Amino acid sequence: MKCIQTETVLCYIFLSFYIATGQDGMLQKPEAQQSGHRIVGGHDAQPGELPFQVAIQRKFYFGSGSFHWCGGSIIDSEHVLTAGHCVFGLPTAELIVYAGVLNNSWQTAQENRVVRHVTEVFLHEEFDIDTYINDIAVLQVSPGFPTDNPDVKAIPLREDIAPEGLACTVSGWGLLGDPEETKPQILQVVALPFITHDTCRHIYRNYTDGSIELGMNCAGYLEGGKDACNGDSGGPLQCGGLLTGVVSWGEKCALPNYPGVYSDVAYYKDWIAQQLARSRTKFIFRM
Ligand code: ARG
Repeated sequence: MKCIQTETVLCYIFLSFYIATGQDGMLQKPEAQQSGHRIVGGHDAQPGELPFQVAIQRKFYFGSGSFHWCGGSIIDSEHVLTAGHCVFGLPTAELIVYAGVLNNSWQTAQENRVVRHVTEVFLHEEFDIDTYINDIAVLQVSPGFPTDNPDVKAIPLREDIAPEGLACTVSGWGLLGDPEETKPQILQVVALPFITHDTCRHIYRNYTDGSIELGMNCAGYLEGGKDACNGDSGGPLQCGGLLTGVVSWGEKCALPNYPGVYSDVAYYKDWIAQQLARSRTKFIFRM
């Protein structure tokens, strides 16, 4: 369920109720249906294990508090990388970033928690909501992240093409499985091998609801069982200490022969650098 810019306040009122009743607000690639998720197969992350992981939440329209929406990764002192579909059509003021937490509940105070407002959204100009091509966005937060918090750290970006089978992790607060569709409160992480663009394009060659386009890579096992799922979008695929992918889409979750699909960080390195430069320029003019 999502609200787009042209929709009215009523939509947000409905959304607040929808969330309050325990439903989820995760975005899904339109063709990939919500049913039939499999166990993601991860485990609780340890304190300080993924200091670059953030939870992107949406503020309740009325009152205080927020609900989980997407994942993201800290890429420098004041920027988060996430998926384009996580921010598409949403007012910037509605987004809030939680860093340095394992528990993503806004009500659970945690020692090293850092909460930041989003001040600017740089969504890829050619993001396509139907195909998920260019599913990438940079968020500027304010004030910047602290430099002395062990649970809040930027992750360097991968600039080369990762090799087939490289050991990676994907993490987030997305669904654990179906039919329960349980959402964990504690950050989950699962180890997965990297799948290159070419191999993944071949794996998905007969799939009719989407294709592996330039700027997409994958990770997972052909036998399934371990994957990202709804609510993990925007979060990090980390391989060898480098941010290698951004959770984007998949056919359901953890199905055999349908590995998770990611936006390829190396492919977008110039675009990301341009957004950081734009963001800094804007920042100077604002002062
Ligand atoms: N689009 C989903 C989201 O908004 C992420 C789906 C990832 N799916 C997967 N099977 N890897 O959270």
